[in-house]
Amino acid sequence: MHVYINSSLIPESEAKISVFDHGFLYGDGIYETMRSYEGIVFMLDEHIRRLHRSASLIQLAISKSSKEIKSAIHKTLKANSLKNAYIRLTISRGFGKIGLDPALCEKPTFVIVTNEFKDYPGSFYKKGVKLIISSVKRNLKEAINPQIKSLNFLNNILAKIEAKKKNAYEALMLNSQSHLAEGTICNVFFVLKKKNKAVLCTPSLDCGILDGITRNIVLELAKKNGMAIKEGKFKKEDIYRASEVFITNTTMEIMPVYKVDSVSYQVGAVAKLLHEAYKENVRAYLEKKV
Ligand code: PDD
Repeated sequence: MHVYINSSLIPESEAKISVFDHGFLYGDGIYETMRSYEGIVFMLDEHIRRLHRSASLIQLAISKSSKEIKSAIHKTLKANSLKNAYIRLTISRGFGKIGLDPALCEKPTFVIVTNEFKDYPGSFYKKGVKLIISSVKRNLKEAINPQIKSLNFLNNILAKIEAKKKNAYEALMLNSQSHLAEGTICNVFFVLKKKNKAVLCTPSLDCGILDGITRNIVLELAKKNGMAIKEGKFKKEDIYRASEVFITNTTMEIMPVYKVDSVSYQVGAVAKLLHEAYKENVRAYLEKKV
């Protein structure tokens, strides 16, 4: 595999950045994870828009235009002969003397890593995955806004460590007000029955979460399918009484959940319907882009 660094494609074994890079020293930088299907990067414009938003929220000037970024991604996919790929684009503050001041770094470091997309085990979709509600709270949005897709992932990593200790696949984090927020790398949805009517629930953005691109698509598809939706503030007890739960992100799409803490769920009709609609939406996107 070749890795794109700044403006060059470098063999993986030689792809290196400085120990003085502020991404390494301080987690000072941003990233996006994308997925390509049959050579087409799904929701590329949306990912690039979010990348620019993250950059602007940390006052990082990206030296490449959106067009140049797209071209670099396509060049990397081509160099690695990849059609169905995992794509990670990272931009750090760059190389500079030790010290927090961003002005110490002359220019950002721009890296694209790609890999063959490896499907998740089929059982994850058939049976679901296990989650815990972590004791680690999501970063306070007034401290580190979770809408910045930053390189500083310790908050999420601490929650993930707890999940692994409890043999769970993923951890859901609550915010400082004990409202449900999101997973370590995903958004969460669940279905509550109200007077026998199913309501698709998900934490609202003001709970301090990343506005997942997959989350937005799921909300649109749910609307199109006439589902009742509630974006709001929820407690962990709400998820415990849900009839189904699923998590979403760019690589997993829609993944059902069979357990949260000690509460069990079936893979439900809503997750199944939305995942089929999601796949159809991907197909339509690819057709439009060909
Ligand atoms: N993670 N919340 C968090 C904290 C995330 O890191 C992600 C994405 C999401 C879902 O966003 P999207 O639907 O746009 O992928 C929500 C990516 C996949 C990652 O960390 O690699």
